[in-house]
Amino acid sequence: MEQRVAKIKMIFGFLVVLHASITCTYASNTLSANQIVRYNETIVSPQETFELGFFSPGNSLNHYVGIWYKKLSKRTYVWVANRNTPLADTSSELTLTRRGVLVIRNTTTGYVIWSSTNLSTTSVRNPTSQLLDSGNFIIYEDGNINQENPIWQSFDFLTDTLLPGMKHGWNLVTRTERYYTSWKSSDDPAPGDFSMRVDTRGYPQIFLMNREEVKFRAGPWNGLRFSGDPDLKPNPIYNFTFVINEKEIYYQYSLVNRSVFSRLVLQPSGDIQRMLWVDSIQNWQLYLAPESDHCDQYAVCKAFGSCNIDNSPVCECLKGFEPASPEKWAIADWTQGCRRTIPLDCGPGEGFNKYTNMKLPDTRGSWYNQTMTLVECEKKCKSNCSCIAYTNSNVSGTGSGCLLWFGDLIDIRTFAETGDTLYIRMPYSELDSISSSAGKRRRIRVVAIVASVILVILISICLFYSFKRKKQQQERTPANEFQHDPENSISTGDEDLELPLFGLSALYKATNNFSMNNKLGEGGFGPVYKGVLEDGHEIAVKRLAKTSTQGLYEFKNEVISISKLQHRNLVKLLGCCIEGAEKMLVYEYLPNKGLDSFIFDKSRKKLLDWPARYNIITGIARGLLYLHQDSRLRIIHRDLKLSNILLDKDMNPKISDFGMARTFGGNQIEANTNRVVGTYGYMAPEYAGDGIFSIKSDVYSFGVLVLEIVCGEKNRGFVHKEHCNNLVGHAWVLHNEEKSLQLVEKCLSESIDVSQVLRSIHVGLLCVQRHPEDRPTMTSVILMLGSEGPLPSPKEPGFYVGKTKQDITESSSSYGISSNNDLSITMLNGR
Ligand SMILES: *[C@@H]1O[C@H](CO)[C@@H](O)[C@H](O)[C@H]1NC(C)=O
Ligand SMILES: *[C@@H]1O[C@H](CO)[C@@H](O)[C@H](O)[C@H]1NC(C)=O
Ligand SMILES: *[C@@H]1O[C@H](CO)[C@@H](O)[C@H](O)[C@H]1NC(C)=O
Ligand SMILES: *[C@@H]1O[C@H](CO)[C@@H](O)[C@H](O)[C@H]1NC(C)=O
Ligand SMILES: *[C@@H]1O[C@H](CO)[C@@H](O)[C@H](O)[C@H]1NC(C)=O
Ligand SMILES: *[C@@H]1O[C@H](CO)[C@@H](O)[C@H](O)[C@H]1NC(C)=O
Ligand SMILES: *[C@@H]1O[C@H](CO)[C@@H](O)[C@H](O)[C@H]1NC(C)=O
Ligand SMILES: *[C@@H]1O[C@H](CO)[C@@H](O)[C@H](O)[C@H]1NC(C)=O
Repeated sequence: MEQRVAKIKMIFGFLVVLHASITCTYASNTLSANQIVRYNETIVSPQETFELGFFSPGNSLNHYVGIWYKKLSKRTYVWVANRNTPLADTSSELTLTRRGVLVIRNTTTGYVIWSSTNLSTTSVRNPTSQLLDSGNFIIYEDGNINQENPIWQSFDFLTDTLLPGMKHGWNLVTRTERYYTSWKSSDDPAPGDFSMRVDTRGYPQIFLMNREEVKFRAGPWNGLRFSGDPDLKPNPIYNFTFVINEKEIYYQYSLVNRSVFSRLVLQPSGDIQRMLWVDSIQNWQLYLAPESDHCDQYAVCKAFGSCNIDNSPVCECLKGFEPASPEKWAIADWTQGCRRTIPLDCGPGEGFNKYTNMKLPDTRGSWYNQTMTLVECEKKCKSNCSCIAYTNSNVSGTGSGCLLWFGDLIDIRTFAETGDTLYIRMPYSELDSISSSAGKRRRIRVVAIVASVILVILISICLFYSFKRKKQQQERTPANEFQHDPENSISTGDEDLELPLFGLSALYKATNNFSMNNKLGEGGFGPVYKGVLEDGHEIAVKRLAKTSTQGLYEFKNEVISISKLQHRNLVKLLGCCIEGAEKMLVYEYLPNKGLDSFIFDKSRKKLLDWPARYNIITGIARGLLYLHQDSRLRIIHRDLKLSNILLDKDMNPKISDFGMARTFGGNQIEANTNRVVGTYGYMAPEYAGDGIFSIKSDVYSFGVLVLEIVCGEKNRGFVHKEHCNNLVGHAWVLHNEEKSLQLVEKCLSESIDVSQVLRSIHVGLLCVQRHPEDRPTMTSVILMLGSEGPLPSPKEPGFYVGKTKQDITESSSSYGISSNNDLSITMLNGR
């Protein structure tokens, strides 16, 4: 065999000389069937951009077949054929078989060491292979080089480098993925730990994987760029695109100026590098160096947490969410992530809040449609309760397409600029559109309060005179019938307050002239009567005592606060009556009276088995949560006790008596009052002692309620024989001795669900902890009651050890009914 100057030796076929270099070496860019490339021979692309041959990287003793830049002074490999089957020595050759398969053979033994495809593939007529100037080495049939789909191409088998024109992603027709994997080391082209994958579970996105684990999510493509890779911008060197259609899903970039060299390489260290060859320094330089930071770590802030590199610490919960574990969050342990402040219940009022400048969350499990509009998208998301968020899948132009998320939102970050917009599902009370109008409403309310003070004065004057006149007349006009017509409603200046006014005569009739037989009880500011309206509706009428000025205040307060609240676990206020000197509240009538009349009654307590009691506990919790968070006003009840929990005919609990409820604006969570109202045994220590009330003092009362419902004993009045503790203290002692079940009322023993009971007691004890900040919110209470997971250990409960000097005045209980000596009190501190 004669050796010529040419580097490529042709045994069969013809020699194609496309280019003569300055050194006058002849090179070929094609390899025909049965032609051989020996160890020191290469194939060169037409413009001499790339060269294919045998090489030995770095200090490696192994040999490989690969492609590198021919023109560049620094040897840079872009493709390796046999990265998994290194050649121990130089006794090997590269051939194209007659069936169109590229093989590396041992020249000594003739064995095939590596082949481009399985050797059994069907025959191909006159196969030829060619190295193109793009760096692609292709095999094609019968001299037809322009066919779109070559028999085989190296661009389908990426190693660690993405060259311009390569497709990174999926061929959906053949279900094959083209992805690139780092070298093991700079000396070893074998696949390393890192790979760049296009994940098509849900809306396609690009992952940098460390073996099986996601290291970095470049994010979904939004039509212009990758959501998580804002560094990849339009630039003078290359343009790029991400194609999603029925046949293919891939990323691709192209050089704008074909005479420059640029490549994307995944280094053995896991760094993704966009490199540009710079002639003046004869070396590669990082181009558009991706600024990798802590927030690029996959899901660093976990569910519903957002990473903002400009913040310290970097993680924060998205608006409307709170740390699942505040203690851990406080010490920068983000592993628990965030959860909703108010859980979704798929109610009709739910909507979406807009979050801007985001890296879109992980789209695995998402759903998309590329032709829908944003409006259709919102509709689609709203209609499916498990849809958590939506956005346009394509932000280009005015935006198009629809992308929906289900389940937790993971791996979100907030950018200073150029982020994406995300719409996240929120319960009604958390909607931005609501809270902004709530702010407006607050301002209106201030005006309304001023207006109503003036109104009260005017009404008082009018009432005084009309009362005098009516006294003189000694007769009522029968014309005043029960009316619902809206013109006959109280108006305090707040447009929301539309409360039906009942005619006095109608109430007289309904209650049989407020006869003693109809009286349900007597409360702090007046008696309560049962009544039947002419249409057969049963009502409860609270008649405000004429003499009580304090009553007038509480009357107003109750009217305004209750009329705004609607919840299945709250007693419904039907209307009121202000006529002459009479001021009355009309409620729905609940036949079963207060919970105390069951729990503390020897014979009736048997009517409430454990499932019924558990239903009551969770119902109270929901009603209270509504008062605390979900209602448009944040309301602290301040006098929760068993007699203020009424039962409807199905034994569903309804919280009653907001006469003492203090309503205040959404931001205010704690207030100090010099007028303590409440009931001993239920009052949190900080409230009874110092007059500090917050939602957490209601939580305390709730905890006492739970223990009383489980135990069937009053907290106040319960004294244990051995340790003189009240019920709360006794429950705490038993809990620590792991004997909580001893607390359970005997009459329940058959119906109890042990884990539910233990969980209820545990939650009850968490609620009565001494320090308000240790007590859970009602949101957590509901979550804890409903879940199976482990609960935190309660700390020592707080007891209020009564002060010596109190100004105790009787106040209202259920509809104003006070039971036994369990009186509500009003304490005047510092007066
Ligand atoms: C390849 O060429 C190098 C130097 O040009 C030479 O030292 C080596 O022996 C050659 N190897 C083979 C297998 O021809
Ligand atoms: C080829 O086979 C011979 C004999 O088994 C062996 O010594 C040599 O290392 C082999 N060459 C390659 C490249 O595997
Ligand atoms: C080649 O054959 C092996 C075993 O027969 C098979 O597992 C593999 O998927 C085949 N590869 C291709 C590219 O067809
Ligand atoms: C990039 O630009 C070239 C020339 O300007 C154009 O032909 C090509 O289609 C563009 N590619 C992409 C992916 O936009
Ligand atoms: C492309 O780049 C080369 C080398 O950097 C430069 O000389 C040439 O002017 C560029 N061509 C265009 C069209 O920008
Ligand atoms: C996408 O939405 C459009 C408009 O709603 C609909 O016509 C089309 O069939 C949807 N495509 C897919 C793949 O669901
Ligand atoms: C809501 O979406 C989920 C996830 O795509 C789907 O499994 C479920 O069937 C949908 N439910 C409805 C009511 O469309
Ligand atoms: C995104 O929207 C633009 C403008 O409407 C359109 O030209 C482009 O094809 C869209 N891209 C995808 C991936 O749908």
